[in-house]
Amino acid sequence: MRLSTEAKELKPSATLAINELVMKKRAIGQNILHLGFGESPFPVHLSVQEELKKNVDKKSYLPTQGIYPLREKVSAFYKYHFNLDYLPEQIIVGPGSKVLVFDLLLALEGPLFIPAPSWVSYQHQAKLMKKPVHYIRTIAQQSYLLSPNDLEEAFQKYSQQKQIQKILLLNYPNNPTGQSYDPSQLKELASVARDHNTIVISDEIYGLIRFHGNKHQSIAKFYSEGTIITSGISKDRSLGGFRLGVALLPSLEQELLKSMISIGSETWTATSAPIQYAAIKAYDISSEITSFISDCTAVHQLIATYVHKRIENANIRCPFPQGAFYLFPDWNKYSKKLSKMGINSSYDLAKTLIKKWNIATLPGSEFGMLDNDLCLRIANCDYDGSLVLNKFRENQKQAFNDPENFVKSFAPRISAACDQLIRFTESIK
Ligand SMILES: Cc1ncc(COP(=O)(O)O)c(C=O)c1O
Repeated sequence: MRLSTEAKELKPSATLAINELVMKKRAIGQNILHLGFGESPFPVHLSVQEELKKNVDKKSYLPTQGIYPLREKVSAFYKYHFNLDYLPEQIIVGPGSKVLVFDLLLALEGPLFIPAPSWVSYQHQAKLMKKPVHYIRTIAQQSYLLSPNDLEEAFQKYSQQKQIQKILLLNYPNNPTGQSYDPSQLKELASVARDHNTIVISDEIYGLIRFHGNKHQSIAKFYSEGTIITSGISKDRSLGGFRLGVALLPSLEQELLKSMISIGSETWTATSAPIQYAAIKAYDISSEITSFISDCTAVHQLIATYVHKRIENANIRCPFPQGAFYLFPDWNKYSKKLSKMGINSSYDLAKTLIKKWNIATLPGSEFGMLDNDLCLRIANCDYDGSLVLNKFRENQKQAFNDPENFVKSFAPRISAACDQLIRFTESIK
């Protein structure tokens, strides 16, 4: 059988591929420390489990847009957590936000602009549909944040006419960097986007995993007419395998809404019925769900700041984490010495770490970085989420007072991975 060029060039998603490799290595008894997969390890909240059990008999096809009571809950959730006003009519529920991003890229005309580094899937999705992609490079010294100037320059470079529609994919808190924008930065980016007729797909799936008391704000606050928010329950509620995501559309975009529903109805039909009913509970703004989210976020913060401190002390550059569960360190200052060891790219670096040091990471090149930029994505999720959450709740004060002891005792693979990364760095001669 002959395949299309786009299909032939597409590899399995790097994050899923590394996870499978780790599982295989573990199955044959190798002790791999897994910093490669960004899956939040916390358990399914009991009330969501109960709701899923109650709705296990729901077997009918549901409306493509998603059931109304769920969209009502999503609407209230966005008002409560982010002070954003979206009517249930402006919300689409889909089988994960990944597919909703894909459908948006399919529905919207215009070239796609992506800051680099960025999450792995955007570029591949766009390439599958032959959409032109332009990367906008960001740098470690500016915490990999996109500046309004960078955006302006990219628009001028790639698109001579301001009025031609463009798409910007912005993700914050960010996978792979763990960085986020503050409201003043978002306001400036919104102004450049508006000026250049740019639709912003704002991937805010890590919005509630924001650290150090900072609250997530959406660019939609400053550019409601041109922003589409995508999000879901995979990260802050640890429900990735449930496969449910949402897209929140601007109020006046009836045509886009219709088109999204049509694309969904011709491809995935509707999100799984029992999952939609269970998600009504997951979108509750009751204290049991909100405190679950904030406790999990506090654990993510504790672990991310612990890992950051350890690797920074070992002379590895890494922007301080602001949210999500990733760090994006780089070994560029060791490039000459690493080259003598045969390591000339982030891919070589990741390969050496898994082969010789038993640590799985992902190379920066998977996230749109240049091959010779020696950066890696580290996901801080390799621990028993139920145990760590319970221990954290038992004694939060002690956990924050002595994070080293807490991580060593209850997330030992995380501290062991830090030990190995440090040993590897010290071995560079
Ligand atoms: C930045 C980003 N966006 C979207 C997704 C996909 O989320 P979902 O499970 O809702 O498809 C992920 C998951 O890894 C992600 O990291």
